[in-house]
Amino acid sequence: MENEGIKRDYGCEYFNPEVETLSRGEIEALQLKRLRETVQHCMNSAFYRSRFEEAGLTPDDIRTLDDLRKIPFTTKQDLRDTYPFGTASVPLEKCVRLHSSSGTTGNPTVILHTDRDLDEWANQVARNLWMVGLRPTDVFQNSSGYGMFTGGLGFQYGAEKLGMLTVPAAAGNSLRQIKFIKDFGTTAVHAVPSYLTRLKEVMDQEGVDPRRDTKLRIFAIGAEPHSEEQRRRIEEMFGVKAYNSFGMSEMCGPGVGFECKEQNGLHFWEDYYIVEIVDPETLEPVPDGEIGELVLTTLRREAMPLLRYRTRDLTRVLGRSCPCGRNHVRIDRMRGRSDDMMVLKGVNIFPIQIEKILMQFPELASNYLITLTTDNNGDNMTVEVELEELFTDDYVGLQNLAKSVQRALKDEILLTPYVKLVAKGSLPQSEGKAVRVVDKRSVYK
Ligand code: COA
Ligand code: AMP
Ligand code: ZN
Repeated sequence: MENEGIKRDYGCEYFNPEVETLSRGEIEALQLKRLRETVQHCMNSAFYRSRFEEAGLTPDDIRTLDDLRKIPFTTKQDLRDTYPFGTASVPLEKCVRLHSSSGTTGNPTVILHTDRDLDEWANQVARNLWMVGLRPTDVFQNSSGYGMFTGGLGFQYGAEKLGMLTVPAAAGNSLRQIKFIKDFGTTAVHAVPSYLTRLKEVMDQEGVDPRRDTKLRIFAIGAEPHSEEQRRRIEEMFGVKAYNSFGMSEMCGPGVGFECKEQNGLHFWEDYYIVEIVDPETLEPVPDGEIGELVLTTLRREAMPLLRYRTRDLTRVLGRSCPCGRNHVRIDRMRGRSDDMMVLKGVNIFPIQIEKILMQFPELASNYLITLTTDNNGDNMTVEVELEELFTDDYVGLQNLAKSVQRALKDEILLTPYVKLVAKGSLPQSEGKAVRVVDKRSVYK
């Protein structure tokens, strides 16, 4: 595996035939070996040492894959509580990069990477892109945010590893994206699906027909939930095949799971992760085919290995073999969340982040409503918030206030919501737990 990609060959469907076509038995044997190595390695982290101590466990207790279930779950809260570097399993001087989640109101999460982590992450992404038919002759354009968003550098290094000419266009500026696509002969784009609707709208305005005027043939779409219907619409709009890509910063970033040409679920790479699906209430495993929460254990991560990490994404196992010849588990598209995190424009947002910002403004009352919608320009968020009565009749003051609220929200959640200040008492008051988010996008279908 360390030599992944060395056997590059234009005639081969696999980036790494040995690993991608392992039998189930071979996958499980490799997983057990790597699980034991990972657990041992985790003992370098003060966090996991005390977790094991509390559970009365030692690494020697993990002798079979089933023994994984003895290990306590790790949660996003654990990463927040140990912010910034508390779960690291190597000294900081061995780390070469970090990525961090958005937000300043609580402790964000930080993910560290060693040189080897970055190299293997690039291999994972390259493996996925090769799987859907991309080759060094392709031109790959990445419309992810760079910087802290893992979709930027993650796809960049993976696409370069595969050997493609890679265009780090980054997010935004659709006119420039289209110019690059035309001028550089871009054949593949990575984008969040909601953005592709906007891109097509601008192409239409500019009289650009993707079938006639571009060489586009493949999209990697991911970083946010989307329905099968949405994928088909994108494919028809552009005349391009769109493959679902699942990533998560805590696991590395993009590259964790990706659809093959069969488009029958995401192959999660089991030489890198152990996949469990558990009931989010009981935390007991659910049978294949049933929806539950995705729990991932890293098998090769060096800087910050994570054991039984609760992703909070809801999905199910579709199968463990595939006509493509790969036996790595096939996972359904994401079906929901077991927490209240929203993913909008590829950005993760918790309602509490919005609430904390709103509460910093004394002019605002405590009742608010977040509405997520889709139109031809992509996805949007509207934040309606009630005013304290005192301030309701000063129109210019209200406009300035709305702008200040919008700016403060943008700083926190990294995207720009519409802000509507409304009269006190005008938003629905719910009995008991307030409904704060109305998602009209129907992404989880
Ligand atoms: N990806 C790429 N471009 C996007 C986008 C997205 N998810 N969402 C919006 N855009 C484009 C808009 O179309 C607009 O460009 P245009 O007017 O030339 O068409 C420009 O970015 C600004 O969009 P707007 O919606 O006004 O800005 P915002 O402040 O709400 O959002 C972004 C800011 C786009 C920078 C922010 O949503 C972002 O960085 N998203 C990318 C997240 C990402 O890469 N996630 C992957 C994680 S692995
Ligand atoms: P991040 O850590 O910022 O990369 O965000 C990870 C989260 O984005 C996941 O836990 C999912 O909720 C969401 N996500 C990523 N890829 C997909 C996808 N292909 N489909 C649905 N949700 C996704
Ligand atoms: Zn397959």
